[in-house]
Amino acid sequence: MVAAVRVHKVGGPEVLTYEEITVPAPGPGQIRVKQHAVGVNFVDAYFRMGLYPAPGGLPFIAGNEAAGEVVEVGPGVGEFKRGDRVAYVQGPGCYTQERLVPAERAVKLPANISYEQAAAVMLKGLTVEYLLRRTFKVEKGTTLLIHAAAGGIGLILCQWAKHLGATVIGTVGSKDKAELARANGCHHTILYRDEDFVARVKEITGGKLCDVVYDGIGKTTFPGSLDCIRPLGMFVSFGSASGPIEAFNINLLQFKGSLFATRPTLNTYAAKREDLLAMAAELFAVVGSGAVKVPINQKYPLRDAAKAHRDLESRATTGSSILLP
Ligand SMILES: NC(=O)c1ccc[n+]([C@@H]2O[C@H](COP(=O)([O-])OP(=O)(O)OC[C@H]3O[C@@H](n4cnc5c(N)ncnc54)[C@H](OP(=O)(O)O)[C@@H]3O)[C@@H](O)[C@H]2O)c1
Repeated sequence: MVAAVRVHKVGGPEVLTYEEITVPAPGPGQIRVKQHAVGVNFVDAYFRMGLYPAPGGLPFIAGNEAAGEVVEVGPGVGEFKRGDRVAYVQGPGCYTQERLVPAERAVKLPANISYEQAAAVMLKGLTVEYLLRRTFKVEKGTTLLIHAAAGGIGLILCQWAKHLGATVIGTVGSKDKAELARANGCHHTILYRDEDFVARVKEITGGKLCDVVYDGIGKTTFPGSLDCIRPLGMFVSFGSASGPIEAFNINLLQFKGSLFATRPTLNTYAAKREDLLAMAAELFAVVGSGAVKVPINQKYPLRDAAKAHRDLESRATTGSSILLP
């Protein structure tokens, strides 16, 4: 038996139940992993509250990202062996001491990436990789806006975008978060709870606006985000921390300057194994070189998963949060 955090009915953080489970032997194509660190992400809350239905129904083990050590391999697995250090985005199912993972979704960890770094950066860092390198090709001279710049995705995106030569504008919920975002590569910060972020983006860019806006907030920043984008620029709606954007008339994109809009997810970008490996290699290279540091600002024992969710959803966290099984 191993400890795990399961959801038996959807709801608030209180539905996260710490209990014992049995992990069977790995089947064909599976590896059994002893987990050393588990990432906490907003998407974990979407599954917990039922916004995203868990594919296997109830009950389910929460969590979508982790890192650990292979302890057993199933039939037909050639790429991994006992003792390998691995990380993966595969969920729900990560809030547990041990689990089975499809081998094709795991990647080997380079020696210079720790389990904690990997658990904190696998889902968020791969997301930042596709946002900056694939959804919109950020390069020297790009001006971008990222909402919640001091969050898990935010701090990684600010550093990576600055490393690529972009000018980074970030919204944040407090002065402390503004300082943290600036220390992590954000050139201009906007206190969007007090200031009109659209007016501030116009002022900062001298009216030129942004080439791309990355919006993981959703309901409260839409449609303002569209007014921060230059003609023919791109709106990337990648999350809904404040609630989903309501249905809108697509003609809006015409009136805002023939904008492009996309609602991407990591699952699509990393669906093929060769893409997953290429994205992970790029991520481990920028983290390994020190160009992107992984700020793990909250650590909790696995049994305190509910507190981790409360902190994340009440805007009390910065950078990445992890659970230690
Ligand atoms: N599409 C994808 O592939 C993908 C992958 C990973 C994550 N995401 C999305 O990326 C976003 C960020 O995820 P994360 O895990 O890194 O979280 P996070 O940014 O660390 O936390 C969310 C932040 O959003 C801000 N926020 C604004 N309004 C909020 C509200 N009403 N309730 C709660 N927070 C609010 C808060 O920052 P301030 O106090 O600074 O406002 C809060 O700290 C989420 O929307 C997530 O779903 C998408």
